[in-house]
Amino acid sequence: MALYTMKELLREAKREGYGIGYFNAVNLEMVRAYISAAEECNSPIIIGTAEALLPVSSFSWIVPLMLDQAKRARVPVAVHLDHTYSFDILMQALRIGFGSVMYDGSREKSHEENVRKSAEIARIAHGMGVGVECELGSVGGLADGSGQEDAMIYTEPEDARDFVEQTGADFLAVSIGTVHGVYKAEPRLDIPRLEKIHGLVDVPLVLHGGSGLSDEDFRNTIAGGICKVNVYTDIILAGKKAMEDHPELGYTDTILKAENAMKEATALKLRLFGSENRG
Ligand code: 13P
Repeated sequence: MALYTMKELLREAKREGYGIGYFNAVNLEMVRAYISAAEECNSPIIIGTAEALLPVSSFSWIVPLMLDQAKRARVPVAVHLDHTYSFDILMQALRIGFGSVMYDGSREKSHEENVRKSAEIARIAHGMGVGVECELGSVGGLADGSGQEDAMIYTEPEDARDFVEQTGADFLAVSIGTVHGVYKAEPRLDIPRLEKIHGLVDVPLVLHGGSGLSDEDFRNTIAGGICKVNVYTDIILAGKKAMEDHPELGYTDTILKAENAMKEATALKLRLFGSENRG
């Protein structure tokens, strides 16, 4: 299949009212797990990497692999760059072939700085035909692997409308009660806030911190306007468990077990998001 962009996939998801899963990959097994799960479900999917994962797997390793596998897939696959803070890395990402990138300005010192930098990145990316996801409010947790937990700040609906207008962002990540990583307490999602944002903002909305949510949380958030759901922790925990469950296996068989467990964990999410048979 031809390579798809996140914009194309989310436009369709928004129109039809389902969610598309987004999954970060650092190696061949993860890329293969995601794409084979999507093929099994006949579901579109978005895969990518993030600034925090570059020490594990640089752009030069992972991006050609993802682009190649995306083009060979029997379902629509888009390749996206998740949470990135550095201007230089974003410029590299634009050159290397990502169809969309996320500039995460939610940790900037002020709202004005988030607006200014998001608008600057969007202007440059649009000049190269690349879509941009930005974040307003802040999804807490360990988003950058630094070990520093960030506090959650809810997205204000009116601010979200103004932010999208001022920045030209193509996709908006909202903070409605999810956090990245493993939940320490049961998540309580603010669905009325999401519905309000959805009523004021035209671009597709993104939910980060998709691990640990209930089936009902997914149903409610997708019905409330979420088009893209980011999931990472649940997938890598599934891979890790499969490895731990089989200490008798050698290395090659162990990685295949992990790949299969990650594939099953991914397929479960794709079905929950309603993207099955939308490929
Ligand atoms: P989880 O690791 O909590 O699923 O979050 C993933 C994410 O939001 C990546 O951007």
